[in-house]
Amino acid sequence: MVKKVAILTNGGDAPGLNAVIRAIVKTAETNGVECYGFIEGYKGLLKNEYIRLDSRTNASGLLHRGGTIIGTSNNTNVFNYKVEKENGEVEYQDLSDKCVQNLKEDGFDCLFTLGGDATQKSSRDFSLKGINCIGVPKTIDNDVAATETTFGYNTAVSVATEAIDRLHTTAESHHRVMVLEVMGRYAGWIALESAIAGGADIALIPEIPYDINKVIEKIEERKRDGKNFTILVTSEGAKPKDGDIVVKKVLDDGKGLDNIRLGGIGDKLANDIEKLTGCPARNTVLGYVQRGGTPTSFDRVLSTQYGAKAMELALEGIFNVLVTYKGGEYGYATLEEVVGENKEVGAASGNTAESNIRKITMDNRLIKTARDIGICLGD
Ligand code: F6P
Repeated sequence: MVKKVAILTNGGDAPGLNAVIRAIVKTAETNGVECYGFIEGYKGLLKNEYIRLDSRTNASGLLHRGGTIIGTSNNTNVFNYKVEKENGEVEYQDLSDKCVQNLKEDGFDCLFTLGGDATQKSSRDFSLKGINCIGVPKTIDNDVAATETTFGYNTAVSVATEAIDRLHTTAESHHRVMVLEVMGRYAGWIALESAIAGGADIALIPEIPYDINKVIEKIEERKRDGKNFTILVTSEGAKPKDGDIVVKKVLDDGKGLDNIRLGGIGDKLANDIEKLTGCPARNTVLGYVQRGGTPTSFDRVLSTQYGAKAMELALEGIFNVLVTYKGGEYGYATLEEVVGENKEVGAASGNTAESNIRKITMDNRLIKTARDIGICLGD
C-alpha cells in the first residue's frame, strides 16, 4: 500500500514540470496519499531536503507556471558524486546509499523522477537498490526512449515556430538568410518540427550531417525563383559531414555527466553562407527562451495525464517504470528499456554509444514530409 510518496525534478527545466507535480499531488490526495518534493533534484535527495506538497497551499495555481517549484539540478550524479576536498583535490564518491537510507528512514513508498535520460538512468540505478521508482519523461529535446512525446517539447516547438514567423518578415524585408539555432543536442526534433510549422527552407539536424554545398544550392535555387531570402533552422547539435559539433564550453561538472555546453553552429553557418554566396546572413540563438515560461495547452494536458498516470501506477504497485505515451495511449515501459544498453550503474547517460536516447530515424514521417515539401535537410 502506497501511503507516502516523493517527487523530484532533475536536469534542465521544461515547461510542464509544475503541471506534472500538480497532477501527482492531486491524484495522491484523491487517494489519501501524502506527497513530498525533494529540493533541486537528486541533490535534495542526497541532502534529505524536502517539503510537503499539497493542493491547498504550494501545489496550487501551478498549471500555467513554467520552471519547477521544487527546483532542479543538472550536474548531480549521486552514484559518482564530485567531492572537492579541503586540499583542493577532487574525489568521486558513490553516495547513492545515503539517498536510499534517506528514503527508507523517512518512509517513502515511491519516488517519482521527473526528468530526461540521465535522470531516468539514475532512477533505474536506484530501482536496482530496492527503491520503488516511477519516471516521467521530460525534456524539450523530445529524446527520451520508449515514449513518443516528452512534456515541454511542444512548448519549445511553439516558441521556435513563433521565432521563425518573426524572422520571416525581417528576412524578406532585407533579403537576408536568417539562421535560427534551436536546442537539441543529439536529436533534431525541435529543429525539424519547427521548420515544418514555420515554413523554413532548410533544417539541419544532428541525425543528418550536412553538406554546406547542398545548403548553398538551396539558397541559390530560391534566388533563381525570385526569393531573395531564406530561413534556415539548425539544431545546436547539427554538424557538417566533414566536421564536428560546435562546443561552446567544456565543463567539469563530474563523471557520468554530459560535460559539454553546445552552441555556435548558427554563427558558423551564417559566416559560411555569407562567404560562399555573398548574401547577407544573420544568426539568432533562441536559447533558454524556448525552455522558460508557460506551457502550451498540449503540454498542460500531456503533463497532467502523465502525472495522474504515474500516481495511478504507484497505487497499482507498478514500479521501476517510465510513464509513456504511444499511439494515443498512456502506458509504461520498464526503466531497463529506457536505459537500453547503458547498463553500468552510475555511468554516463546521453551521448554514449550504448545510451538509448530517441533520435529521429530516417523512416520517420516528418523526414519524408520535409523532403516532400522541399525543405533541404543538408544532404
Ligand atoms: O536537454 C535539454 C537542453 O535544452 C539541451 O538541448 C541543451 O543543450 C541543454 O538543455 C542546455 O542546458 P543547460 O545549459 O541548462 O545545461
